[in-house]
Amino acid sequence: MSGHEETNEAARRIAELRADLRKHEHLYYVMDAPEISDAEYDARMNELKKLEAEHPDLVTPDSPTQRVGGRPAEGFKKVAHSRAMLSLDNAYSAEELADWDRRVRELAGGLPVEYTAELKLDGLSVALHYEPAEDGGARLAYGVTRGDGQVGEDVTSNIRTIRSVPIAVSPAQLKKAGVPQAFEVRGEAVMPQKAFERMNEERERQGLAPAVNPRNAAAGTLRTLEPSIVAQRGLMFFAYFLLIDGEYMAAGQNATLDALTALGFRVNPHRERAHTVEAMMQFIEKAEEQRATLGYEIDGVVLKVDAHATQQRLGYTGRAPRWAIAYKFTAKAGITQIQDILITVGRTGKLTPTAVLAPVFIGGTTVSRATLHNADFIERMGLLIGDWVKVERGGDVIPKVAEIVEDAEHPRGTRKFEYPKQCPECGSDVVRAESEADHRCVNADCPAKLRESLLHFGARGVMNIEGLGDAAVQQLLELGLVHSVADLYSLTVEQLAGMERFAEKSATALKDEIDRSKKAGLARVLMGLGIRFVGERTAEFLAEEFGSIDAVMAASAEELEYVEEVGPRISAAILEFFGREKNRELVEHLRAAGVDMTAEKKQRSTQLAGLTFVLTGTLPILTREEAKARIESAGGKTAGSVSKKTSYVVAGEEAGSKLDKARTLGVPVLDEAGLLQMLRG
Ligand code: IVH
Repeated sequence: MSGHEETNEAARRIAELRADLRKHEHLYYVMDAPEISDAEYDARMNELKKLEAEHPDLVTPDSPTQRVGGRPAEGFKKVAHSRAMLSLDNAYSAEELADWDRRVRELAGGLPVEYTAELKLDGLSVALHYEPAEDGGARLAYGVTRGDGQVGEDVTSNIRTIRSVPIAVSPAQLKKAGVPQAFEVRGEAVMPQKAFERMNEERERQGLAPAVNPRNAAAGTLRTLEPSIVAQRGLMFFAYFLLIDGEYMAAGQNATLDALTALGFRVNPHRERAHTVEAMMQFIEKAEEQRATLGYEIDGVVLKVDAHATQQRLGYTGRAPRWAIAYKFTAKAGITQIQDILITVGRTGKLTPTAVLAPVFIGGTTVSRATLHNADFIERMGLLIGDWVKVERGGDVIPKVAEIVEDAEHPRGTRKFEYPKQCPECGSDVVRAESEADHRCVNADCPAKLRESLLHFGARGVMNIEGLGDAAVQQLLELGLVHSVADLYSLTVEQLAGMERFAEKSATALKDEIDRSKKAGLARVLMGLGIRFVGERTAEFLAEEFGSIDAVMAASAEELEYVEEVGPRISAAILEFFGREKNRELVEHLRAAGVDMTAEKKQRSTQLAGLTFVLTGTLPILTREEAKARIESAGGKTAGSVSKKTSYVVAGEEAGSKLDKARTLGVPVLDEAGLLQMLRG
């Protein structure tokens, strides 16, 4: 093939791969209905990356490889909205909704009044602007936060990393939706609950305060200056408005949602046309029921007049449209009395106080327990046994004690809760480390710890031993059949069948499950051991890096911290864990029982192989250690001083003599953004 033909062939394949990857991104991130495996997707993405690397002139900003780019050098620019991003008026009851409906009908003056009901997503609204692309389609030009409603911040580089936001819209999609090449989409960026939990676990590991709720987390994430971090956070975007030349679509709200779907946006599937207050209330009740299982937070329902002409007739008050309203859920709460406070002991020996409540019916269920978190919580509230309290059940399942109620009918309690000085399970001493909120039992052999360890070991997502629940564990302990998790592997069917409510068949099933778990692999075992701070992700990173439990146990703090997400706190916890004779014995027992404690080692990345970097000055985002770790895990080396052999000097703020030396020797100088770019390949 001539060079020219080869380029043509590459261009053809690149176009094909891009269309294919866009299709599968859409299936995965928008439709929730993937058709190919992650591995297959990665393989195609890698092929595209490789081709683009060979033909840099064929790279375009709307390529699926270009979601994560450089960070905005000057921070976020302010951008005025095409039309104000307003707020919504609220209703809290069927009566208030009926009042609004009446007003709408009066003002509509005979124009059609029908409504579209949507979920009120608890995130932050953003506006996405699309411009004509060369292929006759459209591409994402920029994305702006709501800001004060008039002016927002240009967070394009972060928006691009959200996979449910199309960065390119094809001519066919435009045609299907009946939309020109330039348009604006508004909607809500949310952080799914799973992603929120993951983010907070990570923050906890880094010793940072957790984000209070997914909305704040989403807002903070969108204002992060490093797009590669935003990409990892797993934000999701739901579209609900489409504007052309700053005007809403004439076809009405329901048709707008259809058009957005046709354009490839994720539109929330829970929506309905509702033409009466009764129908709207029914939708609201259904939404409240679905709330706990959606996987992302909602705080109500938005009701919008459907017809554009009617919307225009109704117009706006200063801050909100008259044609839409937010029905806000109120936290479900009940008042009840604290009868007692119980302490439970967890796997790590942590003591958790739980309020025993006089049973109260809240939002469809009877509540008789609420968590009190730790001693600080009780102290801060000044909670006494016998107090009357307001108990709330929000979107989550675990009820919370919100406040103390005190009036003529609800006198204060009288008994102060004494935090136990001895473990309620084994009588050993309880200690509270200075910097920690939690009390712990000091006894390494506390039976509660063993019970919780067994439950944790067998849990779903850990060693996955089905049938090893509360009842089974309790009996195993009472019968003295297990003294450590390793003992599970020497249990016989006869022993298991001897337990209450276990027959031959269920005993055999449990035995099979236990045997099967031997193959769960290193990451699961690391998790199962219950090392503090080692959750699923960390365990997987460790397993990939070291490949065997022996290598993990032999690793120094430095080597451990080489692993993604492992900092001094986690490395210390791992060293502490394996430093204990008892835990090393446990590992040996698991090995003797035939438990697989190996994993496939990750191929080391070699992007920076053969290159030596010298770091100087303060970098804007990465600490010196992080930058070093990232360079090294990409196969590069770091050195302390600049010489002719130095490949690059990475200079941050207040870089000193090393920078001067680099200039004298003609060593190329990078800033942090340049380094991150190289790390991304
Ligand atoms: S429509 C004219 N639809 O709620 C502005 N907003 O309280 C009307 N929100 O700022 C916005 N889900 O951030 C609309 N399905 C939905 C929504 C929604 C969540 C947010 C949005 C808005 C806030 C107003």
